[in-house]
Amino acid sequence: MMKTILVTGGAGFIGSEVVRKLVSKYPNYKIVNLDALTYAGNLENLKPIEGATNYFFEKADITDASAINHVFEKHQISDVIHLAAESHVDRSISNPLDFVYTNVIGTVILLEAAKKYWKGNYQNHLFYHVSTDEVYGSLGTEGFFTETTNYDPHSPYSASKASSDHFVRSYHDTYGLQVVISNCSNNYGPYHFPEKLIPLMIHNIINNKALPVYGNGKYTRDWLYVIDHARAIDLIFHTGKIGDTYNIGGFNEWQNIDLVHLLCKLMDEKLGRETGTSQQLITYVKDRPGHDLRYAIDATKLNKELGWSPSVTFEEGLSATIDWFLSNQTWLNNVTSGAYATYYDKQYSH
Ligand code: NAD
Ligand code: TYD
Repeated sequence: MMKTILVTGGAGFIGSEVVRKLVSKYPNYKIVNLDALTYAGNLENLKPIEGATNYFFEKADITDASAINHVFEKHQISDVIHLAAESHVDRSISNPLDFVYTNVIGTVILLEAAKKYWKGNYQNHLFYHVSTDEVYGSLGTEGFFTETTNYDPHSPYSASKASSDHFVRSYHDTYGLQVVISNCSNNYGPYHFPEKLIPLMIHNIINNKALPVYGNGKYTRDWLYVIDHARAIDLIFHTGKIGDTYNIGGFNEWQNIDLVHLLCKLMDEKLGRETGTSQQLITYVKDRPGHDLRYAIDATKLNKELGWSPSVTFEEGLSATIDWFLSNQTWLNNVTSGAYATYYDKQYSH
């Protein structure tokens, strides 16, 4: 069936993977990528598909209601996959209001546009909201987040995403809008902006810069290759149950310090450096306020109901990710010049 899917945030890390995938896999769909091109949005990420006849780009801010309404009208949007967000916890600590505007107000503006444009005939329309496991708060050393875990966000980022999830559900319960939500664990992979742990460490190892590990480094995250997140989004978009939530995770927990050691080892091998060279760059720095100890997703529902499981091991994904960054140093240099350099100096100067 013909669809015109509005993908928001399609110039970012995960959104661009989703756009590249949908444009190539579904030539009969129109994919409209809407992105404000903030510091995290980069049209270079779309190079592989930018000439495709089923791909369209709209530069717009999701907090701008008239621009969003215009895009719905202009392209006759049939479905939404909403990824646009401010996504970095550390930035949310410095600038919480940016997160409220984009993640909360921007989401409600999109929901309103969908409600208005689809005019109550919701059967053939889906609003898919992409969210994070961080809404569930922090685990101790035991247990996993399931779809029924209570929300308990701690950072302004996770609080804003939790709020947006609630608004999406409220539009389903109140107006009957067909929605689906997924909450995913930490992603890694090509095109990852180097303010997040894995690409930041890869970038710093290449450049022989200090590797800043927050606090004691014993915080735990569950890592998933971005391609497997995009596969899950494709599957949930097409076969997920309306009104449901799906947790997506890699069954792949790592303490930060162990992960940084692994990256150092792999990068020493790939760069032809003596084993142990990069490890010497590890520097413990001031902890993040409100730092969540551990995230771990139980993705059993997605596996049992829709048959999804990760397609690559962490070793394969990490190795491919490092290779991508080593072969795309122009991309890395472009995104780390200018505004990123100012951010980096501010974040790590104490
Ligand atoms: P990202 O920061 O790489 O990209 C966000 C994109 O949204 C950028 O292209 C940016 O330009 C755009 N954007 C920001 N504000 C906008 C606005 N007001 N209007 C229009 N566009 C705007 O983020 P990401 O890591 O790709 O995350 C994408 C989504 O997935 C987010 O909703 C995030 O909460 C969620 N998520 C991320 C992870 C992760 O590990 N990165 C894990 C789970 C869920
Ligand atoms: P991050 O990639 O920011 O993702 P999130 O906070 O959304 O999980 O951070 C992952 C983990 O790595 C988190 O525990 C914070 C830690 N971290 C560092 O130790 N040093 C860093 O420079 C960064 C960016 C993160």
